[in-house]
Amino acid sequence: MAGNGDRAETWTSELREQQAALGTDLGPADPAAYTMRKPIPEPMPTDRHGPARIIAMANQKGGVGKTTTTINLGAALAEYGRRVLLVDFDPQGALSVGLGVNPHNLDLSVYNLLMQDDITAEDVLIKTDVAGLHLLPANIDLSAAEIQLVNEVAREMALARVLKSIRKEYDFVLIDCQPSLGLLAINALTVAHGVLIPLECEFFSLRGVALLLDTIDKVRERLNFDLELEGILATMYDSRTTHCRQVLQRVVEAFGDKVYQTVITKTVKFPESTVAGSPITTLDPASSGARNYRQLAREVIAAQADR
Ligand SMILES: Nc1ncnc2c1ncn2[C@@H]1O[C@H](COP(=O)(O)OP(=O)(O)O)[C@@H](O)[C@H]1O
Ligand SMILES: [Mg+2]
Repeated sequence: MAGNGDRAETWTSELREQQAALGTDLGPADPAAYTMRKPIPEPMPTDRHGPARIIAMANQKGGVGKTTTTINLGAALAEYGRRVLLVDFDPQGALSVGLGVNPHNLDLSVYNLLMQDDITAEDVLIKTDVAGLHLLPANIDLSAAEIQLVNEVAREMALARVLKSIRKEYDFVLIDCQPSLGLLAINALTVAHGVLIPLECEFFSLRGVALLLDTIDKVRERLNFDLELEGILATMYDSRTTHCRQVLQRVVEAFGDKVYQTVITKTVKFPESTVAGSPITTLDPASSGARNYRQLAREVIAAQADR
């Protein structure tokens, strides 16, 4: 049996192998050098709304930018005049906190919506400070739903049931998944049209993605035949490190056109905006982070227009 020392040895040699495989002759630090393929059009103004495209933010790894992307992509889409519903589908309630909602003080949350037939989305919905951006908040109660749903008929369809009628009112519904591939995540994948996978620009970020893609395939085969891979989003990009550039290059090699042209740069503005309880697009509209998420919103809108 391998001891801890051996394991550390294997780990470091694996890292070295990965580094060697990536090569060292890298181009410029600008992430656009790896991802830019075509110009991203300005979105057309719209006065017609819905039915929404439903996008699940998924990655069973925590801390990769799911919640940050849900908040800021949502806010940027709303800035472009789109009606956006954000669904907090993580019992940690980080999405709710990030939008200034205290999850402990909720009378009703996504949990009630899933478990009680007499509660409608309108009862639970919160209007955020950003015009056109609404939230279905969650708190720790949601962790009980995962257990209680197991014994229900069509347990994978609970969220689909909830979103069925309200979907008409919005252009986009973004679901912030918890970091696991449990029943809640399966519910999100079952109702979604597309899955957006945030990937941290860090070695080993690709680990676990195969499992996620397998899960997406399974859900597509059994529950949701039209489920698409919406896109892979590189997050926490730091152009000063060759490490980040190597990872980005590797991600583009692995996923090609599926990688968004937009790359989210690493900045402390994001943790700060969470503390402030508002999107970076409102808190610091001219920051690189705000510009990144606006560009991502343009890509998401353009992809939708092409469908
Ligand atoms: N581009 C970024 N640069 C710097 N910090 C970031 C960035 N994106 C997210 N963060 C921070 O990293 C932490 C994890 O992000 P989060 O969106 O909560 O990940 P997840 O929802 O996948 O667990 C949070 O503290 C968040 O503020
Ligand atoms: Mg999260």
